[in-house]
Amino acid sequence: MNQPAVVDQNVVADDSDVPAHVKNQKLIDWVQRVAALTKPDRIEWCDGSEEEYDRLSQQMVEAGTLKRLNPAKRPNSYLACSDPSDVARVEDRTFICSARPEQAGPTNNWIDPKEMRLTLDGLFDGCMRGRTMFVVPFSMGPLGSPIAHIGVELTDSPYVVINMRIMTRMGRAVYDVLGAGGEFVPCVHSVGAPLSVGQKDVPWPCNDTKYIVHFPESREIWSFGSGYGGNALLGKKCFALRIASTMGRNEGWLAEHMLILGVSSPEGRKYHVAAAFPSACGKTNFAMLIPPQDMSGWKVSTIGDDIAWIKPGRDGRLYAINPEAGYFGVAPGTSEKTNFNAMATLKENVIFTNVALTDEGDVWWEGMTDTPPAHLIDWQGNDWTPDSGKKAAHPNARFTAPAAQCPSIDADWENPAGVAIDAFIFGGRRSDTVPLVTEARNWNEGVYMAATMGSETTAAASGQQGVVRRDPFAMLPFCGYNMSDYFGHWLKVGERLEQLDARLPKFFCVNWFRKGTDGKFVWPGFGDNMRVLSWMIGRIEGTAQGEQHAFGLSPRFEDIDWGALDFTREQFERVISVQDSAWREELELHDELFTKLAQGLPTELAETKAEIEKRLVA
Ligand code: OXD
Ligand code: MN
Repeated sequence: MNQPAVVDQNVVADDSDVPAHVKNQKLIDWVQRVAALTKPDRIEWCDGSEEEYDRLSQQMVEAGTLKRLNPAKRPNSYLACSDPSDVARVEDRTFICSARPEQAGPTNNWIDPKEMRLTLDGLFDGCMRGRTMFVVPFSMGPLGSPIAHIGVELTDSPYVVINMRIMTRMGRAVYDVLGAGGEFVPCVHSVGAPLSVGQKDVPWPCNDTKYIVHFPESREIWSFGSGYGGNALLGKKCFALRIASTMGRNEGWLAEHMLILGVSSPEGRKYHVAAAFPSACGKTNFAMLIPPQDMSGWKVSTIGDDIAWIKPGRDGRLYAINPEAGYFGVAPGTSEKTNFNAMATLKENVIFTNVALTDEGDVWWEGMTDTPPAHLIDWQGNDWTPDSGKKAAHPNARFTAPAAQCPSIDADWENPAGVAIDAFIFGGRRSDTVPLVTEARNWNEGVYMAATMGSETTAAASGQQGVVRRDPFAMLPFCGYNMSDYFGHWLKVGERLEQLDARLPKFFCVNWFRKGTDGKFVWPGFGDNMRVLSWMIGRIEGTAQGEQHAFGLSPRFEDIDWGALDFTREQFERVISVQDSAWREELELHDELFTKLAQGLPTELAETKAEIEKRLVA
């Protein structure tokens, strides 16, 4: 950890306030150094208790940051509405400051770490004036799990504190695991809005200048100017993906933008699947899938909805944990029909951000009900009626809810040993070209499939929506190092597992989003995705058939369990067909990605591409 350059000797905090149970001197010194730089009015060492959560929530209600929802409708729940400029991750303000630019690679923003430290020292100097700096200790993963790691976030946002309490294992017990000499990832966050004496605060302080900065070598995170989810809850994207992916590369494991689910067959055999989709492609829905009635012998259980940490076990299999303890899910589109389990998870103890408020003091968002309420207060605090001509909830409105409240939560979701992964699924949002499901022939083809994934952009990040962008492994905004090296790391993990002669996970690529000529989705999706999942399980068990094509194997109509679903051969053809001409164009787009990533790109990818091309010509 680097010492901040700017230290005002007059405000160096003394350690008299450090709780007796905090024994880690490195942590104590760091807290004092950051306090000396940021100059908060006070430091609060968070214990993660309910009392603390309630007290901070009440303070935020009084400050206008939170509204308490009607306890009869939504017990112990709150609504926060952000500043309209602070509603999504800011990828163009996100930096990977490795020692050399080629270590960050062409898909990350890189700035020389020395220069960045000077910038940060300037920005953070006095940035917490008039505020409290909270010390938030957290574990990503079950406390003490060999797959888990510890972080500590220093933040001047009480909203971040209460969200971190839901999203991570946060609080006093972390110090016991950390002990006197344990390692932690240091995360510094400020909304970047110091208060002068007597100045009144605003409900959602933030700053037009935003920096989300990662130093992979020292495993540090510095975030300035935003109070919104992925920019501010530093355990999530910043630590669990960007920093953890670099830790995984160095240590031989994987930190992935993947949900984890358990799937039990009617015969009672259980499998575990990890699936990567870009933001807002239905990961939470898939993780909480309820099989259709005619497939009621199947059961899906939820281990995680966004991030997987995966480490090889002694037996050569890959074991995954969900490093998070809550869901920070996209609210719009979530309903009893699309995700019954999520709606049940949201019954109480939830923080909603940027959804609309009903006249009864409850929440609403687009897609929650077929008929919207006659009147709402929209996410910006204005009166709203169905003919207002604008959305009541922000498209990237979120819920923060404890994972344990999910009715489909897997019995093993907190198993410190993790669950053994049987398959990886990769998917994007593509109106055309990519079939409903394809199985890769082997690990390297699977890596190729995942590396060349494309998806139409959504509201989870700021920027233009609806254009196809390559999103390798759904990690483009989240990989903390050079994407080419990341592909190489995946290939190496496969190679090592092959040497151990273990049962390798299969790779599948899915696309729920193909559209017909009428512009509507052809595949019903949601619970019916179970039909695809059951085909995959059949492939794992060696019972299901399919047909080989240029880049893998897909089911024929007769290979899918259609049960009560009325889905014609013609409709199936629309979602499964592989058009050679479209695929030739697609492969050219893969080339664009590979040209961009040329430096250090593993040769296996070009070789796999050449094979696919050969098969297309044939
Ligand atoms: C998320 C995202 O918030 O991927 O999970 O944007
Ligand atoms: Mn995500």
